[in-house]
Amino acid sequence: MLVTLTDVLKDSKEKGYAVPAFNVFGYEDAKACILAAEELNAPVILATNKVAISHMPITILGSILTQLAESSSVPVVVHLDHGKDFQTVAQALKAGYSSIMYDGSQLSLDENIKTTREVVKLAHALGVPVEAEIGAVGYSDPNLGVRAILTNPEEAKVFAEGTGVDALAVAVGTLHRMEEQSAEIRYDLINEIETLVSVPLVMHGSTGIPDEDLKKIAKTNFGKVNIGTALRMKFGHSLREQLDKNHDVYDRIELFGKAMDEVKEEAIQKMRLLNTQNYQ
Ligand code: G3H
Ligand code: ZN
Repeated sequence: MLVTLTDVLKDSKEKGYAVPAFNVFGYEDAKACILAAEELNAPVILATNKVAISHMPITILGSILTQLAESSSVPVVVHLDHGKDFQTVAQALKAGYSSIMYDGSQLSLDENIKTTREVVKLAHALGVPVEAEIGAVGYSDPNLGVRAILTNPEEAKVFAEGTGVDALAVAVGTLHRMEEQSAEIRYDLINEIETLVSVPLVMHGSTGIPDEDLKKIAKTNFGKVNIGTALRMKFGHSLREQLDKNHDVYDRIELFGKAMDEVKEEAIQKMRLLNTQNYQ
């Protein structure tokens, strides 16, 4: 069933679980993530970023994802990932998304508070929760020109209280698009943030997090853990391997089945580490 972000984050701290937000780009990976969630009887968040909605219009992608969510036996959130402007937020709301991330992390604190507050007003009027970011997670490729800044716990408190967000993305040692699980998590920062901020926290760039740390993070106030690159690698590597093995194959439907199985297995493994099935 289609549910909101707030629905799935409700007891995440008390029950010691986190819900993965998997970046999906179309029917195949979205379906694979839902099959994974159904196998564990756990909730899941399907997240679409700028790349996804520049490939497929948000009206079409939103329609595919919300229909998949509605026909699923487990709670599924359809989430806009790193929305950077009002127009994209409004389009996602119109397309039936049940969760919005507005990312003003590259703005000054005051500007970020001001614009996030406006997004919260708009989304809340439609009953849709909002995640926003303070500090900046940044990218493993420094050439992308995105500033990475660890979250200042005091600023996180001011930001959460000043905006009324439902979930808060913070930068505590990860970077987007890491291909190795080598992030060094700043637990000292997490502790400080947890004492000052009560809204559920969101971890970005979680492909880079070692398995043991994912288990620990599930027990903190991080309720949403964003994972993109790990699934993209599974899908892409599976296609390459199949094409390398069999030079005669050209039918994508033949190739997708195996790639979907690999994405599903990876999603299950991440959900087990995050204890997502404890939601029940
Ligand atoms: O917002 C999306 C995520 O933060 C995904 O990051 O691709 O590094 O796992 P990742
Ligand atoms: Zn992210």
